[in-house]
Amino acid sequence: MIRKEALNSIKENVDNKNLIKHMLATEAIMRALARRLGEDEEEWGLTGLLHDIDVELTGGDMNSHSRLGADLARELGAGEAMAHAILCHNPAHGVPCQTKLDKALYCADPLTGLIIAATLVRPDKKMAGLEAKSMKKRFKEKRFAPGADREQISSCSELGLELDEFIELGLEAVKGIAADLGL
Ligand SMILES: [Fe+2]
Repeated sequence: MIRKEALNSIKENVDNKNLIKHMLATEAIMRALARRLGEDEEEWGLTGLLHDIDVELTGGDMNSHSRLGADLARELGAGEAMAHAILCHNPAHGVPCQTKLDKALYCADPLTGLIIAATLVRPDKKMAGLEAKSMKKRFKEKRFAPGADREQISSCSELGLELDEFIELGLEAVKGIAADLGL
């Protein structure tokens, strides 16, 4: 699968700019995780990029969300490993996250929300000045960005990563594409 084709398909299926930004940010973290763990960066990145491609198509139906996404990814040429990771990132299906790729997507997905929320409360709304130290503080504030599931983020431990390292790696990765996100 070629990244450009994946991105074109996303643009056909997703109107919400923030959702596209979320998928780009997830891709960035997935690429950084793959590099850190010696995995296939392209495969992991594309999994992150495509994981929510069906959100608007499924319109909030959690029984369809990610099932359709996995099918769309397959149509774009994704292998079963990618399709499985996309499928199981929605716990509604009761499909456990088993592979490293599954687990990586599962913990990277909510971290993007925390990073973007922590950026948007800054006076300049820019990511450049956001430090890992303040991200770690935000992580502990339960009422801050409550949708960014802390337990899910903490499941980075299943990849052998300490939470602090994961937050640092994720923040650096998303900072790397901050201009694309307009942040
Ligand atoms: Fe997501």
